[in-house]
Amino acid sequence: MLPLLLLPPCLALALSPWSAAAGKPSGSYWLTDAKGLAREFDGIGAVSGGGATSRLLVDYEEPYRSEILDYLFKPNCGAALQILKVEIGGDAQSTDGTEASHMHYENDENYFRGYEWWLMKEAKKRNPNIKLIGLPWAFPGWIGKGENWPYDHPDVTAYYIVSWILGAKRFHDLDIDYIGIWNERTFNSKYIKILRYTLDKQELQRVRIVASDNQWEPISFVMMLDSELREVVDVIGAHYPGTKTMPSALLTKKKLWASEDYSTFNNEVGAGCWARILNQNYVNGHMTSTIAWNLVASYYEELPFGRCGLMTAQEPWSGHYSVDPPIWITAHTTQFTQPGWHYLMVDGHLEGGGSYVALTDGKGNLTIIIETMTYSHSACIRPPLSPYSLSPQKATFYFNGSFSHLEALQVWYSKLEFKSANSTLFQSLGSKKICDGMLTLNLDQDEVYTLTTLTTGRKSRFRDPPRSQPFPSTYKDDFNVRNPPFSEAPYFSDQTGVFEYFVNTSDPGEHVFTLRQVVNQRPVTWVSDAENTISIIGNYKWVNLTLSCDVYIESNQGGAFIAGRVDKGGIYISDAEGVFFWVFPDGTYRVTGDLYGQKVLMKGLSGVRAESWHRLTLTLRGTTASGMLNGYPLWENVTITNPENGWAAIGTKSFEFTQFDNFHIQTS
Ligand SMILES: *[C@@H]1O[C@H](CO)[C@@H](O)[C@H](O)[C@H]1NC(C)=O
Ligand SMILES: *[C@@H]1O[C@H](CO)[C@@H](O)[C@H](O)[C@H]1NC(C)=O
Ligand SMILES: *[C@@H]1O[C@H](CO)[C@@H](O)[C@H](O)[C@H]1NC(C)=O
Ligand SMILES: *[C@@H]1O[C@H](CO)[C@@H](O)[C@H](O)[C@H]1NC(C)=O
Ligand SMILES: *[C@@H]1O[C@H](CO)[C@@H](O)[C@H](O)[C@H]1NC(C)=O
Ligand SMILES: *[C@@H]1O[C@H](CO)[C@@H](O)[C@H](O)[C@H]1NC(C)=O
Repeated sequence: MLPLLLLPPCLALALSPWSAAAGKPSGSYWLTDAKGLAREFDGIGAVSGGGATSRLLVDYEEPYRSEILDYLFKPNCGAALQILKVEIGGDAQSTDGTEASHMHYENDENYFRGYEWWLMKEAKKRNPNIKLIGLPWAFPGWIGKGENWPYDHPDVTAYYIVSWILGAKRFHDLDIDYIGIWNERTFNSKYIKILRYTLDKQELQRVRIVASDNQWEPISFVMMLDSELREVVDVIGAHYPGTKTMPSALLTKKKLWASEDYSTFNNEVGAGCWARILNQNYVNGHMTSTIAWNLVASYYEELPFGRCGLMTAQEPWSGHYSVDPPIWITAHTTQFTQPGWHYLMVDGHLEGGGSYVALTDGKGNLTIIIETMTYSHSACIRPPLSPYSLSPQKATFYFNGSFSHLEALQVWYSKLEFKSANSTLFQSLGSKKICDGMLTLNLDQDEVYTLTTLTTGRKSRFRDPPRSQPFPSTYKDDFNVRNPPFSEAPYFSDQTGVFEYFVNTSDPGEHVFTLRQVVNQRPVTWVSDAENTISIIGNYKWVNLTLSCDVYIESNQGGAFIAGRVDKGGIYISDAEGVFFWVFPDGTYRVTGDLYGQKVLMKGLSGVRAESWHRLTLTLRGTTASGMLNGYPLWENVTITNPENGWAAIGTKSFEFTQFDNFHIQTS
């Protein structure tokens, strides 16, 4: 049921449900700018990466890909995001995959790898005012010089990061607004100062530093002791703050952000979480930006944190995507504010539970966002510290100062239905008159209202996307037809190592265009990457299949595998099980039940050697596996039990160059 709004203006107050409030909390809330304004609002955003969360988005065909991007970034369309934060690829696993570094090796530079450049450009194309943030999760191995630590040579790390910012400008005309330190890992004061110095030396004074993308402490405390550090850190970014800040953070007088938050399944529960923290991160914690992990769930759903994006686009093969409720919750704030607006000085707590924030552009525009999420339904990955109850209530807003002359406000409304998934999302209720300088709402639970002077709000809806379909049961790629402008082949999702298109112009035959694993040294990791490299593809439900692929091991220390029923990825990749068929350049082969290579099911001689192409074929049927080399049976009747299903994969024994070609999978 929508609240009744269409009664005659000031009469409505007396007749309508707006005034029926006997026995309910009946709060009065004053909105004024007469005594100045509160903190500057810095925008609502989302993270692409940390890691590979947008991986499958790039493989969508048009027009679906553009529609998805419009829902995310286009002003007055959908989420109209004000900030895009991207991973600076570090060649290592960073939650749902690896993202390629712009410098795999010390003497290497390439600003066309991966998809974050493309994504930033698509976002800017739609909203030139969107703010861009870069943050590393991991670093290529040469940064650590053998240690899993990026700070022993802070000048090298600063050079690496500043190169990324300069490359963004030089090759893509992208101005990076904010730069981070090391996601959810230790910061180093000396490094932060050297980073600032290096930025300034490159005339990048405009780039602001966010630190430390972890907890409020110890960064706030250290900043209070170290005035030089305090000088160079512009924003304190905390992750999953549960809407609370700490006194030490407030003492720094810096901008405070929830620089990563949300991380919740994107149904009504995720939307409820999002609505609550978008307001309460400011109301309780003085945070002036909230950034969702993650932007769009464009990774295989069975990877960790499946569908924890603001919307879902995980089926490029079908074109299917879904615009999930968090998109419309975002719109309640983003379509009616801009970074640079200011919060009004209000307490923000509603008497009957829930919260409101009010923002102004300082030129007479006013936007109020109200949420009444119940605690039990709107829990985020990190819920609030103490549960609270919530009751229906009447709320009366009084308009003073510059706002005393306002006559009406546009009203946008959502109500989340947690049981029936039958929510009202971002619905325009038209304009509501302000009578005698006040406006009263009857608020029920699990609602979001926006009241605003802006008339530009819009709920876009493109045609229905194609229906959902499983990954094709037959799939092949000879890597000859490229996927411009991307460095990776469609649907392959790297979980350790980086697999890139490769061209060998001196190849005499059919292997000019291949896919090559290019990480040759263990990176400075963020989690426990496998000792091997691996890229997964396909349908997690796959059981029976025949998988063939040509492999070319470039070094005598190397080794390559193809696999089926791979059951784990992302941060759990090093524990992955499945059926792995390995060949090594010493002329042996192995069949193992795990990626680690310890559960040996079969082994023997193969005659495989380095710098030579070999075709591997793996067939899985029920509890039996068999393998072929160059078209001839090599092993058969190997009994397999666990796991029962999983993705297909290719990979290498260690961080060695290895090429793959003529990938072919048949599952029925
Ligand atoms: C969905 O909401 C509408 C309007 O409030 C209501 O009429 C309908 O019965 C609801 N459907 C379900 C399945 O709850
Ligand atoms: C509000 O914002 C709009 C759009 O930016 C602008 O045109 C208008 O002048 C502003 N002020 C008022 C009072 O509407
Ligand atoms: C609102 O403005 C009126 C008139 O300017 C003033 O009398 C009143 O004290 C103000 N109220 C608040 C709460 O600011
Ligand atoms: C490229 O092809 C040539 C000719 O087959 C071969 O000798 C060389 O090793 C190949 N290079 C790579 C990096 O695969
Ligand atoms: C896999 O193959 C086995 C043996 O042919 C068969 O019994 C089983 O039903 C198949 N499973 C699926 C999911 O197709
Ligand atoms: C595999 O099993 C089949 C059917 O039982 C049998 O004919 C064949 O000899 C077996 N192969 C090996 C290598 O044991």
